Amino acid sequence: MAAQSRFLWLLAAAALPSCQQAPQQQAAAPDASALAPLYVSTDCDTPTTPFCNSKVAPPQPLPPGWPAQTFVLSQTYPTAAPADKMPWLAFDPKTEPEQFIGAVLAYFYEGNVRPDVATSFDPKLNSVRGWYNAPWQDFGPNGREPIHGLTRERVSLPYELDPKNQKSSWNNYAVGFYNAPGGVTLGSIWADHGKPNYSSVSFPEGTVAGKLLFTTANEAEAPFLAGSPAWQAYVYQDVHNPTPKPTDPRAVTMVRLLQIDVAVKDKRAPLGWVFGTFVYGGGPPPGGKSGSGWTNVAPVGLMWGNDPPYRKQAALQETWLNPAVQMPHVGYQGRLDGPVDNPASSCMSCHSTAQMVSGDAKPPPMVPAVTGDPMWFRNIPSGQPFAPGGTSVDYSLQVWVGLNNFLKAQKLAQAPSPEARNSMVADLVRESARPPRDGGTHH
Ligand code: HEC
Repeated sequence: MAAQSRFLWLLAAAALPSCQQAPQQQAAAPDASALAPLYVSTDCDTPTTPFCNSKVAPPQPLPPGWPAQTFVLSQTYPTAAPADKMPWLAFDPKTEPEQFIGAVLAYFYEGNVRPDVATSFDPKLNSVRGWYNAPWQDFGPNGREPIHGLTRERVSLPYELDPKNQKSSWNNYAVGFYNAPGGVTLGSIWADHGKPNYSSVSFPEGTVAGKLLFTTANEAEAPFLAGSPAWQAYVYQDVHNPTPKPTDPRAVTMVRLLQIDVAVKDKRAPLGWVFGTFVYGGGPPPGGKSGSGWTNVAPVGLMWGNDPPYRKQAALQETWLNPAVQMPHVGYQGRLDGPVDNPASSCMSCHSTAQMVSGDAKPPPMVPAVTGDPMWFRNIPSGQPFAPGGTSVDYSLQVWVGLNNFLKAQKLAQAPSPEARNSMVADLVRESARPPRDGGTHH
């Protein structure tokens, strides 16, 4: 099939509601340049402007007069981190994992949890400490929506959240924050907005990244979500469609807190990082935690390594799972993974792939193509690349996503002709149907 006709077919398909098939003949294809604002910006994400807050495919403005919260990227990255307490240091992650992760969560909540759920986790309202968002997560169909800056995540397939009640697939959305030490690293990578420097990314000791994951799933299919903090988000209206197109309609939709991820740079951990996650309400029975609001979460577990030799013969040494939580799945062979995450993976398996490659080389996939491929379950110390020749970005997949988005936008800007650019846009739309954390190639 000629590139041009493939391109027209893709755009024709993109314009159809998800439940229909693309017809063989499509008279008028929409203009790919209409989608260009998802990929090419002039007023933000340029060498001389601030980073963009969010982007959605035109013409889909928020409802007129949308009164409430809109997302403003926290991008005044500090050049040095102010002195701060690190309450998790009172606990050993390996022997006191529950206390360790509890202290991290309390630190993440401080000044971020507000009486009003909608304005919680707005860095400009936090008077305790600064929190910063990674740039360039706005780009593309899965990029930040305008109310809370949520990006589209992996879809929860039937029964992954609740083994009894969840019959549908549900879309999930998330937003992440770095504390000041992490913000210093973001700022140094992106000191020149037109020329990021990722030659030696190394987050300093005491870096904390926290990520809130919200689901469109309702309480009928995931009853443990009762009482969960709910946000309004401007997301794909068809909450069940696992592969939305950028032109699919959006709607202001209620999303509920499902999972909270944390990553902590801690030199006591063998690889330099500790990853942990919480589930709202303690997950489905027989687990469960009664209550409501931000504090009604339970740790799923904590990990500090991938247990490379583990083949079901011995108990995991480098993952702690909370026996009080019984999610239908964790990660590969019981390694830690969140309710939303890919069961074939683990937190540190996926994040160990955070490396840049040079030229046109393909980045390593985040999830192994063959289940259990040991390449994806090695213990890679902070700073070392996943594969020879790569440049580590120190376990940060938001840095990885941002840099890759920047490089793709640069290629688009340098396209030799409008046709070539439109064809590249069409490829990006196709690649974006599945986020990379789900095995896709593009965030
Ligand atoms: C299969 C891949 C995958 C798995 C498994 C995974 N993540 Fe991530 N994670 C991502 C991607 C991609 C991003 C960046 C984009 C985003 O925020 O969605 C990310 C972002 C994050 C961030 C924001 C900072 C950063 O490093 O980019 C944190 C914190 C995080 N994940 C923690 C976790 C924890 C904890 C787990 C396990 C419970 C986990 N992740 C499992 C893919 C994964």
